[in-house]
Amino acid sequence: MAWTHRHLLGIAELSREDILDVLDGAERWFDMKRVDARVLHGRTIVNVFFESSTRTRTSFEVAGKRLGADVVNIALQTSSVTKGETLLDTVRNLEALRADALVLRHAASGAPHFVASSTRTSIVNAGDGAHEHPTQALLDAFTIRRRKGGLEGLVVTICGDVLHSRVARSNALLLGALGAEVRLCAPRTLMPRQPEALGPTVRAFEKIEPALEGADVVMMLRIQTERLAGATIASTREYARTFGLNTRVLAYAKPDAIVMHPGPINRGVEIDPRVADGRQSVILDQVEAGVAVRMAVLERVIMAADAERARA
Ligand code: CP
Repeated sequence: MAWTHRHLLGIAELSREDILDVLDGAERWFDMKRVDARVLHGRTIVNVFFESSTRTRTSFEVAGKRLGADVVNIALQTSSVTKGETLLDTVRNLEALRADALVLRHAASGAPHFVASSTRTSIVNAGDGAHEHPTQALLDAFTIRRRKGGLEGLVVTICGDVLHSRVARSNALLLGALGAEVRLCAPRTLMPRQPEALGPTVRAFEKIEPALEGADVVMMLRIQTERLAGATIASTREYARTFGLNTRVLAYAKPDAIVMHPGPINRGVEIDPRVADGRQSVILDQVEAGVAVRMAVLERVIMAADAERARA
């Protein structure tokens, strides 16, 4: 195992070798997914989710349990944060309970990085504001690799609310590191000012048809209404007509292109239900991949923390 990171905070901190190490490790867990693989027996993982989640929280819980760990879930509404306790105090108290890893989702960009600098417990970023969602990008790459055999030379179009998307950021970095061309497509109001700065192979598009031309992979993003500061689109119907993925515009991509979405999907807005449920969709494969990828991540960060303590 080449991995040496005690935390997983973002794709930005990973090398190409780190990424491939996780993907290869996840392959092993994916193929053994019904086997009892209790390499984290006796360990405690706490899911600290201060933003809503279905897929990420559940798959981290399933991943931890498949590895034999005790998994505890904390949500914002039922935590003492509602009584004024700070995030850092919350983390220090969980550390005192001898948690081996904290899986943190937070609305503030940089929150996992902030707490990681003040705790001995491994921190795994499960999504921080509009910044990064590293395990989503890893499971996306895992899904693409299984379907396409590799990522080198593929054209991946990411379309939707790029400005507020941590998924787009992590994917632009990861896919670029593995040699894919990344096309970002969004209305001007939902595109960052310098999209090319998001990744080494990024190109920006303002129309969906040229962005999809010859694409191997089409990844749609929902509009992150929870992060919108003001009006950014004229109407949902207009957005669906100009930036939504339907069978007409999907025909611009390669005939064997796969359709992805991190979820939750807004049917009829960024994606037509006929495409979401169609033969090219791998949306539920992404969800399935999430468990194996998160098993590989949890195993790696906890083993790296053990190795670091042994050296100290
Ligand atoms: N993809 C994703 O992060 O989904 P959840 O918000 O349901 O975890």
